[in-house]
Amino acid sequence: MMEAAREPGCGGARAAGRGLVGGAVSLVLLWMLPPAHGQAVEFDARERKAIARLSPLPPPPPSATNRFADDPAAARFGQALFFDPRLSVGERVSCATCHDPALAFTDGKPLAVGLETGTRNTPTLYNGGHQRWYFWDGRCDTLWSQTLGPLERDVEMGSTRVGLLHRIAGDAGHRAAYESIFGPLPATDELPPHATPKTTNPYWLAAWEHLPAERRDAINRFFANIGKALAAYLRKLNTPPAPFDTFATGLRDGDPDKLTALSPAAQRGLKLFIGRGNCRLCHNGPNFSDGEFHSIFVPPREGLAPDAGRYVGLARLKSDPFNAAGAYSDAPDGAEAKLLGFVANRTENYGTYKTPSLRNVARTAPYMHQGQFESLERVVHYYSTLEGAVQAGHHAQETLLVPLNLTEQEQADLIAFLRSLNSPDVDEALRK
Ligand code: HEC
Ligand code: HEC
Repeated sequence: MMEAAREPGCGGARAAGRGLVGGAVSLVLLWMLPPAHGQAVEFDARERKAIARLSPLPPPPPSATNRFADDPAAARFGQALFFDPRLSVGERVSCATCHDPALAFTDGKPLAVGLETGTRNTPTLYNGGHQRWYFWDGRCDTLWSQTLGPLERDVEMGSTRVGLLHRIAGDAGHRAAYESIFGPLPATDELPPHATPKTTNPYWLAAWEHLPAERRDAINRFFANIGKALAAYLRKLNTPPAPFDTFATGLRDGDPDKLTALSPAAQRGLKLFIGRGNCRLCHNGPNFSDGEFHSIFVPPREGLAPDAGRYVGLARLKSDPFNAAGAYSDAPDGAEAKLLGFVANRTENYGTYKTPSLRNVARTAPYMHQGQFESLERVVHYYSTLEGAVQAGHHAQETLLVPLNLTEQEQADLIAFLRSLNSPDVDEALRK
């Protein structure tokens, strides 16, 4: 992969100068187009192609496992659930506690704090409909099944699927919304206040195991529907075009006015991003993520146990009754479900995490799966030096990264480019 980092013509004017010496010049010169007004940096044909792959961001692909994915009533219900703290035990924590619209749907904290402090950093929810795997470790394969986790996790909202059923059944508004979309709620008579198979509470677990199989199935279906409504809402949180998108359009259409959307520094940063920095190797496609799992060897946060990442995530996904191939999926034989059959767990997955999207990244500090880095400056410094990098397991892992040895100017340019991925907020109506 080191060759890729040195592709001719991908390293900016200075790299082109080096290319002169290195002899890969003629092609580079052939490709160079005179800079238009607003364009501070030249981009050759290969670079233009790379930039075109990063923009525009299309609407999210259809989600066959969720029949309600694009149902407006389900999205409205999901939005009401998202902002409702009464879904949590103690009625204090809603999804928006950690995914605050004012902070690009994050919490601004290194580690999430719900009922207790968790062990991972809260990712943004923007463009969630574009992802193939969810969570840092990919332990869910659909957006709707992802949303079920926090409702029951004791450090987050700490409720149970039966507790949630009582809550929805007891609230006239939620009840009417649910039943108009999904049909009658399961009966609540003689149900204990709480029960779930996914808990550390032995009473709630025993209560679940005492329920007849048909009731458990009906409650699971209800629970999945709650996730499908939440997902219908989340699928609307797509970022409007960022300055970078305007620039990319300008480059494609030869529109000089649009090229002024990026400062000269951001344009140099873009050149680094797709060239010598090799960032697009993983942060590729219009959501700036290949959707896959990699280790970039970030040292763990002090005081936290080693995190196995994808290795444990994939094992959990395969045994999750709410996965794309399961009984509650609306397309258990569809493409999303088949994908699950193709991925095999390997020891190299140990300590790998999903490549995060970089859209709006300047608004989602701190960074990395445990919030290890407080600023973009720190992130870029890390990629430049790989200072403190650790091998996550004892296993041979991909070594796609080399220290980039960026100058101060190059680091500032790269950050200017990352900042150009900030979009205006989504509609106010979706933020409350
Ligand atoms: C206590 C804080 C907290 C609460 C409450 C919370 N989340 Fe999260 N959320 C997180 C953290 C932390 C992660 C990453 C966890 C991981 O990867 O292990 C996450 C991950 C996600 C993701 C995956 C994003 C991705 O890129 O993979 C989605 C979607 C999501 N949450 C939606 C929700 C919804 C919907 C709710 C309410 C039902 C909710 N969250 C409640 C902290 C929270
Ligand atoms: C080998 C794949 C790969 C390459 C190459 C790569 N990244 Fe990343 N990037 C990742 C992964 C994986 C993470 C999350 C790692 C973690 O949490 O441990 C990440 C995290 C980030 C983050 C933090 C995002 C967040 O929300 O926490 C930023 C910013 C970032 N990368 C920018 C870059 C830039 C700039 C480059 C090029 C200099 C680059 N990356 C190159 C895979 C890569």
